[in-house]
Amino acid sequence: MNSFKFPSLALLLVLALPHTLCVYLRMSNFDLMKCSYGERGSLTATCVNATSSYFKNTPYRFDHLDETLRCVNCSLHTLETGSFDISGNQIKNLDLTNSLIETVRQKAFVGLIFLQRLILANNAIKSIYPGTFTGVKKITYVDLENNSISILSDDGFLELINLEELNLRHNEIKSIATSAFNGLVHLQELDLSYNAIGDINGVFNNLTSLRLLDLSYNKISVLTGKEFDNLTSLLEIRFKFNHITTIPASEFYSMSRLRRLDLSFNAISGVRAGSFKGLHALEILDLGNNAVAEVPQKTLQSLHNLQYLNFSNNRLSIFQTGLYSGLPQLRVLNFSHNVIEDIEITGVFSLDSLDTLDFSFNNISNVDYVRLISRLPKISYLNLEDNLLPCGLEKEMEDYFAEDNFKFILYRNEANAVKCVQTDALPKNKHTFHKDSLIRAEMGGSSANAWIFVLIGITLVLVCVLYYLQLRTYQEMRSMSVKRTTSEVQLISSDLESRDNDYLKE
Ligand SMILES: *[C@@H]1O[C@H](CO)[C@@H](O)[C@H](O)[C@H]1NC(C)=O
Ligand SMILES: *[C@@H]1O[C@H](CO)[C@@H](O)[C@H](O)[C@H]1NC(C)=O
Ligand SMILES: *[C@@H]1O[C@H](CO)[C@@H](O)[C@H](O)[C@H]1NC(C)=O
Ligand SMILES: *[C@@H]1O[C@H](CO)[C@@H](O)[C@H](O)[C@H]1NC(C)=O
Ligand SMILES: *[C@@H]1O[C@H](CO)[C@@H](O)[C@H](O)[C@H]1NC(C)=O
Ligand SMILES: *[C@@H]1O[C@H](CO)[C@@H](O)[C@H](O)[C@H]1NC(C)=O
Ligand SMILES: *[C@@H]1O[C@H](CO)[C@@H](O)[C@H](O)[C@H]1NC(C)=O
Ligand SMILES: *[C@@H]1O[C@H](CO)[C@@H](O)[C@H](O)[C@H]1NC(C)=O
Repeated sequence: MNSFKFPSLALLLVLALPHTLCVYLRMSNFDLMKCSYGERGSLTATCVNATSSYFKNTPYRFDHLDETLRCVNCSLHTLETGSFDISGNQIKNLDLTNSLIETVRQKAFVGLIFLQRLILANNAIKSIYPGTFTGVKKITYVDLENNSISILSDDGFLELINLEELNLRHNEIKSIATSAFNGLVHLQELDLSYNAIGDINGVFNNLTSLRLLDLSYNKISVLTGKEFDNLTSLLEIRFKFNHITTIPASEFYSMSRLRRLDLSFNAISGVRAGSFKGLHALEILDLGNNAVAEVPQKTLQSLHNLQYLNFSNNRLSIFQTGLYSGLPQLRVLNFSHNVIEDIEITGVFSLDSLDTLDFSFNNISNVDYVRLISRLPKISYLNLEDNLLPCGLEKEMEDYFAEDNFKFILYRNEANAVKCVQTDALPKNKHTFHKDSLIRAEMGGSSANAWIFVLIGITLVLVCVLYYLQLRTYQEMRSMSVKRTTSEVQLISSDLESRDNDYLKE
């Protein structure tokens, strides 16, 4: 009603109020801004409630004792060119965490000639433009975690020739330009986890010093075999929680120093014979939570230093000792949560270093533990819980391993756990099988060794017989003075011998 009676006054009020409020707020904010030296010995200057233009206007004098400048929970919005061009400063660490930064202009940090660590975490930065880091060559660490970067464009970090660690975790990165990491010749750690990256082809080409690459929690679905060609210094690569389905042959071929490879929580169904070729230093391979149904022969061939292999939560239906016996350092094998029904003792060699074997949550109904254990000279822990094993097995195994310092778990002591399967029809059968294994095991300590001796014996006998035959033929021939036939017989005999050896190798 009033506003109708005095329209001009009302209008004036409506127009004037926000303005006055603004001026008031700005005044009060300026009053509340402050930079001050921290506790004695802290070497830290802290600015509170500062805006981006305040650093050059503050009455506070920066000197050599201010190694660190903190402005946490400030209201910076835009970092203008030269915001920190403060005379006489020797700032080494700049921490601008959680300060509402959206835009960083070119040369924003110019003047910070001593700067080594730059922390810009928990802001709303959308992009890193070329020229942003002009004039700050000493920086070794940049933290951009939890910002809003969606595109990494060419040359954004070009000037950071001494950068060792770059954290881009928790952004919205969808695409990376081919030259986005240009100039980062000393980069050792690159964290790109928790983004939306789908394509990484060609982007890491020049990062020859990189030791740790974290790409977990992204959307990478295709690997082409060429992404990591020049990454010869890598020690660890984290790939978990992506959408990878296949590992091409020679994907990691140049990574002869890699120690850890985490490929868990993908959709990998295809591992190939050459997938892990060249990983001679690899110690830990995590393939857990994928869809691997088969491990082809020779897949793990070059992994001479592998210690941990995790295949848990896959679709393997068979375990063959032979596939893993060529890994001299292998200590832990995890096959938990697969659909393994058969444990096959293949090949002649043992898994010499294996101490932990986890078969829990599979579909194993029968295990020839005597032969299995005979291939595992160092085994100290065998987990078989939640399978379909017969109830009598526990007692049997307890008796058999009574003397050994060996821990096995057959049934979980919990509600809902698969305990064991009553097999009244089978006990006789099983008993004979058990006895049989015992005899075999007693024969030579391990049945594998026994077989080797038998094979060598047969070969030796054959060689002797052949030699004898050959000698006789030779003598006969000599008496008949026909020499050419000898070499023919020799050929046949060596042929037989090599076939014998092939058999041994199988
Ligand atoms: C910073 O500003 C807030 C209000 O925005 C005020 O409560 C607080 O006291 C200020 N801090 C200092 C140290 O002046
Ligand atoms: C910044 O604000 C958060 C809450 O928003 C508070 O927990 C933290 O202590 C503040 N840090 C500083 C240095 O003022
Ligand atoms: C991310 O940053 C925003 C401020 O930009 C903050 O409110 C939020 O708590 C941060 N999230 C994490 C996980 O640190
Ligand atoms: C790699 O670096 C060289 C110079 O060292 C440069 O010419 C080339 O363009 C860079 N390649 C990529 C893909 O960034
Ligand atoms: C990186 O690999 C590409 C081929 O993929 C090659 O042309 C380039 O010279 C390599 N760069 C360095 C720095 O080794
Ligand atoms: C695989 O096993 C390793 C060590 O045993 C463990 O650190 C890792 O979390 C496991 N991975 C999965 C996906 O369970
Ligand atoms: C094997 O992996 C499963 C699932 O990740 C885990 O719960 C279990 O502890 C692992 N076993 C060993 C011996 O590390
Ligand atoms: C494995 O056993 C479970 C019961 O424990 C059964 O439901 C499942 O069908 C079996 N899987 C296969 C592949 O035999």
